Amino acid sequence: MSTLTIYQDTVPETPVLQTQDPADIASHLRPLGVRFERWQGPEIPPRSADAETVLATYRPFLDKLMGETGAGSADVMRVDPATPGLEALRAKFLSEHTHSEDEVRFFVHGSGHFILHVADKIYDVECTQTDLISVPEGTKHWFDAGPEPDVVALRIFTHKEGWVANYTGTDLANRFMAYDQ
Ligand SMILES: [Fe+2]
Repeated sequence: MSTLTIYQDTVPETPVLQTQDPADIASHLRPLGVRFERWQGPEIPPRSADAETVLATYRPFLDKLMGETGAGSADVMRVDPATPGLEALRAKFLSEHTHSEDEVRFFVHGSGHFILHVADKIYDVECTQTDLISVPEGTKHWFDAGPEPDVVALRIFTHKEGWVANYTGTDLANRFMAYDQ
C-alpha cells in the first residue's frame, strides 16, 4: 500500500507522521511541488507486456501530463533480481542527489521508495502499483527498491539526455534506509 512517512532529518528512529491515504499523501507533498496521483481505470498490462503495450495503455494519462508539464518522452524501465549489475544500479540511486529536470515515474508493477529531503524533513514515499510521482527539478532525494527489487515503471522525461544525477555527498540515505539490511 502506498505510504508516506515523514521524519525530522536528525531523527531516523521516530516518524513524525505516517499516512496511507492517497489524498492525504498528495496533500502533504503538494506544498513541496511534488505531484502524487494514482492513474486508475485501464486494465493493468501483465508484467510481460512489451513497452509499446504499456505506453499505449497509459497514453491518455501521458498525453495529459505531458501537455501540462511540457515533458517530451516516456519509456518503460524494468528492474528485478535478474537485472545485471543490480548492486551497482541500486547504489547509483541510493545516495542523495538532484536532477536538472523533474523525475517522473509511474509504477505499473512492484514498488519502490522515493525519499525526499526538503528543509529539515525527510519524506519517504513508498510508491506502489498505479502511483505517479513527480520529484521537482533541484529537489534532494534518493530512490530505493530494496535488495530484491521488483519494478516495472514508466519514466517521463523533459530533456533528451536521460537520467543524470548531481550527488550532494551527504550520508542521509544510509541513515534513513527503507529496507532492513
Ligand atoms: Fe533521482
